[in-house]
Amino acid sequence: MLDKCQHKDMNITRGIDHARKFKAAKREYVDEVFGPRQLYLHLLATHPDYQLHGAGTRLVGRGIEVARKEGLNLTLVAQPTAAGFYTHIGFSSTGNITITSVDEDEKFTYPVMAYNFTSR
Ligand SMILES: CC(C)(COP(=O)(O)OP(=O)(O)OC[C@H]1O[C@@H](n2cnc3c(N)ncnc32)[C@H](O)[C@@H]1OP(=O)(O)O)[C@@H](O)C(=O)NCCC(=O)NCCS
Repeated sequence: MLDKCQHKDMNITRGIDHARKFKAAKREYVDEVFGPRQLYLHLLATHPDYQLHGAGTRLVGRGIEVARKEGLNLTLVAQPTAAGFYTHIGFSSTGNITITSVDEDEKFTYPVMAYNFTSR
């Protein structure tokens, strides 16, 4: 999902290149920054027919509950269009991952976000 949403012209070469760069960037900007005591939220979506009914909040809420109980950093890499949702429920951006396409004709930017346990 993360790898499709912003792409205008996806093909297998571009897709594989994007996934490889995303993985490397995630390692550098998420895993190395937040360390092993981390719960990373991956691939969240609510079916379009059921958006804005609280399901996304409840799904992330389960992650918040587990991370709080275990004392873990709670992180994710957001689609830019979803960053407002995460901010609304208590995450802050800690920076951006920017990926340049294999042909260097497009750039994709994804906010890295972490949950603020202290302010909640
Ligand atoms: C982002 C997404 C998961 C939110 O799920 P949802 O079930 O619609 O969210 P909720 O109903 O729990 O919304 C909670 C609050 O966030 C707000 N909100 C929801 N989506 C938002 C967005 N994209 N930007 C800003 N605010 C948003 C809602 O208005 C709601 O506000 P309220 O509490 O004042 O009523 C859903 O829109 C989605 O699946 N989007 C497409 C896939 C996607 O982008 N996933 C994220 C990948 S990182």
